Amino acid sequence: MSAPVLDVRDLRVRLRTPAGEARVVNGLDYAVHAGETVAVVGESGSGKSVSVLALLGLLPRTATVTGTAQFEGRDLLAMSDAQLRTVRGNGIGMVFQDPMTSLNPVLTVGRQITEGLRAHGELSRRQAAERAAELLADVGLPEPRRALERYPHELSGGMRQRVVIAIALSGEPRLLVADEATTALDVTVQAQILDLVARLQAERGTAVVWITHDLGVVAGTADRVLVMYGGRCVEDGGVDDVFERPAHPYTRGLLGALPARLGAALDSARAPDLVTVPGTPPLPTELPDGCVFWARCPLRSDPRCEHEQPPLAPVGPRGAPPGAPPGALVHRAATWCGEGS
Ligand SMILES: Nc1ncnc2c1ncn2[C@@H]1O[C@H](COP(=O)(O)OP(=O)(O)O)[C@@H](O)[C@H]1O
Ligand SMILES: [Mg+2]
Repeated sequence: MSAPVLDVRDLRVRLRTPAGEARVVNGLDYAVHAGETVAVVGESGSGKSVSVLALLGLLPRTATVTGTAQFEGRDLLAMSDAQLRTVRGNGIGMVFQDPMTSLNPVLTVGRQITEGLRAHGELSRRQAAERAAELLADVGLPEPRRALERYPHELSGGMRQRVVIAIALSGEPRLLVADEATTALDVTVQAQILDLVARLQAERGTAVVWITHDLGVVAGTADRVLVMYGGRCVEDGGVDDVFERPAHPYTRGLLGALPARLGAALDSARAPDLVTVPGTPPLPTELPDGCVFWARCPLRSDPRCEHEQPPLAPVGPRGAPPGAPPGALVHRAATWCGEGS
């Protein structure tokens, strides 16, 4: 297998807060190869957004970020602000949940898309406008030519998000980072955007990190899943392994009604959210010593659960397929549950 487009090792993020130091991301390891999609799932507050903002240099200055994040062989975490800005505009495309954070309110949509297109220097103004209209049509915006003349506030939230997605894709990124990018869109538009991204992946080998709480999206798009809880990866692996044989009690909770629910979801194109697990996640200022899920875990039985943090270790006989490259489709979970059974 070729080198990954993105290779994240031991990513940790601490944030200063009035309540003390928050350990928001606690040792993430993952790689995304060309054409591959890694889905990051987990309930609100588990550190998903912070983990990608950290890679892109978009956290407040109160954040301490450690680890490495090689993008095409260069460590994003060691780059200057200027270098990161270049990579963000040209190499990595980003789409966040709130489109207004990405759009400039005083520039027309057309201007914002063509700026990126023309930065590459190959297109005339007219060609760039032409290409911008195509991109807007690709993301399902009605009347794309008219939309080019509009300002962000003149568009609905869903349309703005599609503009942001068009901008993110306009630079032909090798890596697309999408954080709840389609959550606010209706299912038809969402399906259209997922198709578009899949096409780009097939044509250009775009690598994708897709943060979502929508299991229908995960099942339909992801090659691999990373389940986050309390700023840790509690389970990761190939999407089929994780969905069919979830090993961590938290993952089992989230996937509660699967696969029946999932089957229904895919049939009807209606997206199920993660199943609610009773209780609330630990505060990042008060992480437990043992398993992060201990306080809510219905299965805790091992005396180590409370005091000893379980390592992320291969699961079952399919943990490491023979001959698989390190980290490939290995299915891992951080739990004392089921050990030796
Ligand atoms: N700028 C910040 N300063 C302090 N704490 C933050 C900041 N941003 C996020 N957090 C905290 O970090 C934790 C993880 O947040 P986030 O990454 O947004 O979670 P998710 O995206 O999984 O919902 C939460 O407890 C949140 O309150
Ligand atoms: Mg988030």
